[in-house]
Amino acid sequence: MIGGQEEKAFKKLDKKIDQFIREYRMRIKDSDEREIVEEVFDRNTLMTLYHLMNEGYIDELYGVVSAGKEARVYSGVDSSGNPVAIKIFLTLTSEFRKSRMKYIMGDPRFEGIYNSPLKMIHAWASKEYKNLVKAYNAGVYVPRPIAHAKNIIVMEFIGDGFEPAPTLREYKNLSERILYQVLRQIRLLYQKAELVHADISEYNIFYYKRKPILFDFGQAVVTTHPMAESFLIRDINNILNFFRSRHIEVNLTLDDVLEYVRGSRDAV
Ligand SMILES: Nc1ncnc2c1ncn2[C@@H]1O[C@H](COP(=O)(O)OP(=O)(O)O)[C@@H](O)[C@H]1O
Ligand SMILES: [Mg+2]
Repeated sequence: MIGGQEEKAFKKLDKKIDQFIREYRMRIKDSDEREIVEEVFDRNTLMTLYHLMNEGYIDELYGVVSAGKEARVYSGVDSSGNPVAIKIFLTLTSEFRKSRMKYIMGDPRFEGIYNSPLKMIHAWASKEYKNLVKAYNAGVYVPRPIAHAKNIIVMEFIGDGFEPAPTLREYKNLSERILYQVLRQIRLLYQKAELVHADISEYNIFYYKRKPILFDFGQAVVTTHPMAESFLIRDINNILNFFRSRHIEVNLTLDDVLEYVRGSRDAV
């Protein structure tokens, strides 16, 4: 039974979603993108958005800040006016299935979801959210997780004026100190959150208020995952290579960093 007050609230939300979609559609020119819109705002997604709005986690959606292959990220505000980032996972593509399977296999949290694309994408969003919570609770610098429902996660918006903070790739004043800051976060993630990010690169780390902030945790795995060590090695190599490519002198070997991250060495 929907009471009068509730009905009013629903109408208000309806208007907001309508308005958002209208504004959003105006920005869409080619048909490729139009397809994506239909995909993102399918009925289920709208209902989920609706639910999150009703709970006050989202009050308004602003523009899209990133349109990736599998997820789109929007800026918005919660019911108190605080900026939030809203990550909406797209309908599952076969590519997603292929590329993501190796991260999910071997994780007991994801048994028996392989046959349902919808379940799988929900599990994927849920995995990103849970990883974020784990990392956040361990004190790792990550966007504060706020809410998760089905294929949508809401988190703290990192940046000013609804403009995402620069990633390491965009950050102009890289230094050896920043490399050490990043390695410290990887260590904390490994030792306290017992996670390996598994997709660390200059694209998935913000540099904001003099801190590196790790994000995009969908593919992170627990340190007991059979592939954890090889993902960790890849993560570390990515970071070392990136800093070297920016002509930052790095007097560290992969082994030095591995020992540091795993804890048999106190400093790098
Ligand atoms: N918490 C956030 N605050 C601000 N911007 C964000 C946030 N999370 C993601 N973004 C923006 O969205 C982009 C893609 O986010 P990411 O989680 O890496 O998605 P994908 O899985 O598509 O790579 C980021 O580079 C950034 O511009
Ligand atoms: Mg990313």
